[in-house]
Amino acid sequence: IKRIGILTSGGDAPGMNAAIRAAVLTAAANNIDVIGFHHGFNGLLDNEYQTLLPQHVQHIIQYGGTILKSARCKALYTSEGAAKAAKALEALQLDAVIIIGGDGSFRGALSIAEHYNGQIIGVPGTIDNDVDGTDYTIGFATAIDTALDAIDKIRDTADAFERIFLIELMGRHSGYITLSAGIAAGAEQIICPEFAAIKPDNLKDLIIPIQHAQLLRGKSSYIIVVAENSYPAGTTALAEALSEALGIECRACILGHIQRGGRPVGADRILATKLGAYAVEQLIAGAHLMMAGEVNQQLSLYPLAKTGDKTKQIDPYLVRWQQYIASD
Ligand code: F6P
Repeated sequence: IKRIGILTSGGDAPGMNAAIRAAVLTAAANNIDVIGFHHGFNGLLDNEYQTLLPQHVQHIIQYGGTILKSARCKALYTSEGAAKAAKALEALQLDAVIIIGGDGSFRGALSIAEHYNGQIIGVPGTIDNDVDGTDYTIGFATAIDTALDAIDKIRDTADAFERIFLIELMGRHSGYITLSAGIAAGAEQIICPEFAAIKPDNLKDLIIPIQHAQLLRGKSSYIIVVAENSYPAGTTALAEALSEALGIECRACILGHIQRGGRPVGADRILATKLGAYAVEQLIAGAHLMMAGEVNQQLSLYPLAKTGDKTKQIDPYLVRWQQYIASD
């Protein structure tokens, strides 16, 4: 391998810069040139790229976001778009390309592979942690800490005002961030798609534990952490429905994109460094259409085509524990 490309795609995640840095430094140590594409796959289609030398990745390990910029790329959904992207890789004489992103980005990579003769490897970077083949994705650990910091602050005001708060966390259709941050924040209830999808007609499942807590324990505040997309009409509507049913003020707080930013925590910098370096090493060893992941502290490859199968389970022990304390 003489020349590789690298890009970050989809929702950015803290630690993506650390992964770019590790890949560039590992490539340089193996005399491989690196081209970094801007704005995800769009950089391939629009010929927006730069050479990445070790000096370009100095002192970026501590920053959130991605120096290469990120984006989603609709053009890749078509066979013409994928063929155009493959052509761009070949025109630049790239032997391989590293895609840092989530399973949506890996699907894009797979469609390019239908037209491209070089190697493709994925590195899991998304706060959602919803990628099979790795215990953790880059950015997940930081997103939990960011959410926790916010929930702890909301607890102060919730306590002072004796209010019920619903705090909505990201995760698209997965509850990893919500379960982890909810447990670590000591939330009274956790709602996530995996185990507690609340619908308008089963609001009582939510209300009974609240009444129970207030009557028996004299709780002054009550925090419900809710994964986005859990309630059909949205978390604000859920707070309004609860206020009406309980006759107590409930407030909704949608945490939103704050969860995607910030300095990556140590665990994300370390994971990103390992996966970025390992991806280059595995390309040299001939890997193709694989994702570089870490399972049980072992770096390993996983087929890119299976990363979106959703077989990874949120921690069943935490789920069980949360359920019995909520119903206590
Ligand atoms: O995949 C990362 C993520 O932040 C999800 O948690 C969220 O559902 C989505 O991206 C938000 O996307 P956008 O930034 O396009 O609003």
